[in-house]
Amino acid sequence: MADDTTDTKSSNQMWGGRFASGPDAIMEEINASIGFDKKLFAQDIRGSIAHATMLAHQGIISGNDKDKIVHGLNTILSEIEGGNFEFSRQLEDIHMNIEARLATLIGPAAGRLHTARSRNDQVALDFRLWVKEELQKTEQMLTGLIAAFLDRAEEHAESVMPGFTHLQTAQPVTFGHHCMAYVEMFGRDRSRVRHAIEHLDESPIGAAALAGTGYPIDRHMTAKALGFREPTRNSIDTVSDRDFAIEFLSIAAIAGMHLSRLAEEIVIWSTPQFGFVRLSDAFSTGSSIMPQKKNPDAAELVRAKTGRINGSLVALLTIMKGLPLAYSKDMQEDKEQVFDAAESLELAIAAMTGMVRDMTVNTARMKAAAGSGYSTATDLADWLVREAGLPFRDAHHVTGRAVALAESKGCDLAELPLSDLQAIHADITDKVYDVLTVEASVASRKSFGGTAPSEVRRQIAFWRARN
Ligand code: ARG
Repeated sequence: MADDTTDTKSSNQMWGGRFASGPDAIMEEINASIGFDKKLFAQDIRGSIAHATMLAHQGIISGNDKDKIVHGLNTILSEIEGGNFEFSRQLEDIHMNIEARLATLIGPAAGRLHTARSRNDQVALDFRLWVKEELQKTEQMLTGLIAAFLDRAEEHAESVMPGFTHLQTAQPVTFGHHCMAYVEMFGRDRSRVRHAIEHLDESPIGAAALAGTGYPIDRHMTAKALGFREPTRNSIDTVSDRDFAIEFLSIAAIAGMHLSRLAEEIVIWSTPQFGFVRLSDAFSTGSSIMPQKKNPDAAELVRAKTGRINGSLVALLTIMKGLPLAYSKDMQEDKEQVFDAAESLELAIAAMTGMVRDMTVNTARMKAAAGSGYSTATDLADWLVREAGLPFRDAHHVTGRAVALAESKGCDLAELPLSDLQAIHADITDKVYDVLTVEASVASRKSFGGTAPSEVRRQIAFWRARN
């Protein structure tokens, strides 16, 4: 029986003043976040140093106490970095683990650090700082991936491959052009990242529990010290907002979707049936039973990581959707989703950058495939419009008959003798053969953003200058 005399559990040393006994083991287990939020140690210490410095500057604590606090916090930082810090689940989270250790190190002055703040604004600060750094890292990684594509695009500005719609050969394009499509996609991801950094660039510290504080704090000073543009403007919103985390996850989900589409293409392209690319040994694996195999495991795992990231986004949206303002403990569940998604996204971008840089492009296979499937049929129709003055609809019909004839003869459009073509439409001359090759087809598509090598080079120059 647990009554006051027999209970051996002691109440929480940080907030247990009104508690007669400690928490049940299950309570402790469900409540503790130290298992994952210890990742925020550096941000927590940076935030506390900025807060203590501001408190002293405003005369709320003495300069002497501030010095002790800052020194103690720096000691704790090196202890954690050196792996010499014992995290305790009884102390729930990173904030209280650090504060308790500070008390051991510097004594009563440690108790002054939590003046004019709450764990609610503290965690909002730590997590925002973490997400901001992660977004900056993501921005750099996306820039690396874009650079890899730009190099491949430059190398293959003239290499012809089949362009697909419905995964059916549609019209010839260049591999460089296809690479540049990914540059556009990852370029959009990168600008989303940049916008997200702007959105979250406000400092939460000083919102306190939810209502602000009566102490004469200077939130502009802490905001500046921590590298934020300005302090947040509403203390209630500050402690109940996790938009910055949800934005990170949304961006990760969209980038993940792009990475997954790329992964899917690499899986298809590297099959022996397609044979468009060959993955390097560094980014593929063998089979334990079939010696001939080379599997695109990294690409497949990138495709799968996207599912995980989507799960995290939906999880956090669902965690937040029913919460009344301001803070609720539900919000503690935000971190694992973001940490997990960040790890998946980093891995996926790194793996894709490596694969894109390393893969061997089989231009002969691509070119052969580009010419099959009557991919220059549109060029024949366009020629009839241009040279024979047909309306496009009629030209489309004539071309359809030419394709049907070639199909029945089992040959390509360019292999049909002129007499056959003239039997379908009398105005066709032997000049038509000039547009039926894949190179001519590609070179003719000079419209802005089109697949002509000259256009692809223009796109590359744009992105190189943009960065
Ligand atoms: N560990 C908590 C979290 O991650 C810190 C904030 C706790 N605040 C509170 N009022 N209990 O959200």
